[in-house]
Amino acid sequence: MLKLGILGLGTVGSGVVKILEKNAENIKNKVGTEVKIIKILVNNLDKERDIEIDKNLLTDNAEDIINNPEIDIVVELIGGEQPAYDYIMRSIENGKSIVTANKLVIAKYGKRIFRKADENDAQVCYEGSVAGGLPIIRPLQNSLAANRIEKIYGILNGTTNYILTDMSKNKKDFDESLKNAQDLGFAEADPSSDIDGHDAAYKITILSSLAFERFVDVRDVYVEGIREIKSTDLELAHEMGYVIKLLAIAKNGNDGVDIRVHPAFIPEDHPIAMINGTYNCVYLHGDAVGQVMSTARGAGQMPTGSAVTADIIQVAKDINYNQREVQRMDSFLESNVTKIDEIENSFYLRLEVEDKPGVMAHIAKIFGDNNVSLASVLQKQKDNPVVPLVFITHHVKEKDLEKSLNEIKELDDVIEIKSVIRVENDI
Ligand code: HSE
Repeated sequence: MLKLGILGLGTVGSGVVKILEKNAENIKNKVGTEVKIIKILVNNLDKERDIEIDKNLLTDNAEDIINNPEIDIVVELIGGEQPAYDYIMRSIENGKSIVTANKLVIAKYGKRIFRKADENDAQVCYEGSVAGGLPIIRPLQNSLAANRIEKIYGILNGTTNYILTDMSKNKKDFDESLKNAQDLGFAEADPSSDIDGHDAAYKITILSSLAFERFVDVRDVYVEGIREIKSTDLELAHEMGYVIKLLAIAKNGNDGVDIRVHPAFIPEDHPIAMINGTYNCVYLHGDAVGQVMSTARGAGQMPTGSAVTADIIQVAKDINYNQREVQRMDSFLESNVTKIDEIENSFYLRLEVEDKPGVMAHIAKIFGDNNVSLASVLQKQKDNPVVPLVFITHHVKEKDLEKSLNEIKELDDVIEIKSVIRVENDI
């Protein structure tokens, strides 16, 4: 028999308990022995729960799991940085293998955790940390291992994908769609990590380290969220044959990894553009396999519970058969993140300007002087003296664009630069 200690009995923890119980026979057949929970860490021993649980399993003392010599595998489902990181490291020091869904801890401290695990002959699995029910960590480690992967694109946050889909389909503003997502239980009471892009940044950092075998510092990843996206931009995108998505991007380069999260125009006939609502997706190119795209729900009790339980099965099987299928990461190199102002992108720009002769000429001159080449221009007709002016640029260096926008802002006839959104035409 293999014995589990679970740290945390929230939404995902309860899902894991349900799956382990419901599919116990099937899991025993896969692992070759019974897998049994012997302790669960909770905050409140007396709390009413939506699952039936033997109260004797519950403890409010983490040491009953971390320092319990009977426990083989520690399943960390507390989330957040501390005490989760400390519990993981001390459990590994005690020779236990780890299953976690903690994206923050893996993205920020993965290198230290994997090194400690290798020193202690322990395993660390984290399929649940990226895109919940979507299988991507183990496919990168195993099924796609023969490939060189140079680029990964993902929609890695369900809350923001739901909000952008709702804004676009129902012509709503950001605040209204966010409230809708919160009322439906998709968005957290404090949704800032989701809507400001940090949640997706942790996830793409984890994927990029596996795909490129390079560790980067997640604090260097450029992150821009969706708070500034207006329904006007979504409508204009649609008129021009695009959708807007919060895109997580990782590209392997000679001098570093170009890794970033920001809203992006995507051609509306691209497979990623079809991923709507709370769905996540990962789209990558392997030199042998070609394009691969996976999609699934990226959050929720049972989808994430499914990923975490699959990791438990994998680690339990490895321990039971004295084998090691989980990838070692000791050969991974450290790498820089390419600075955003060195990156070249195409941009969508929406300005509000006075509708009078010479305005366009002034703006075009500034672009030209700063090496910014225009791909298309659209002036929306309105019966007032102030009109929206929309540009799509060719690929330009971010710093050249920024310089030209700083100059354009100062022109008397330019009322405001309303939106600046990257365009990803080459995915
Ligand atoms: N809050 C995340 C999302 C799921 O909205 O996709 C957990 O990472």
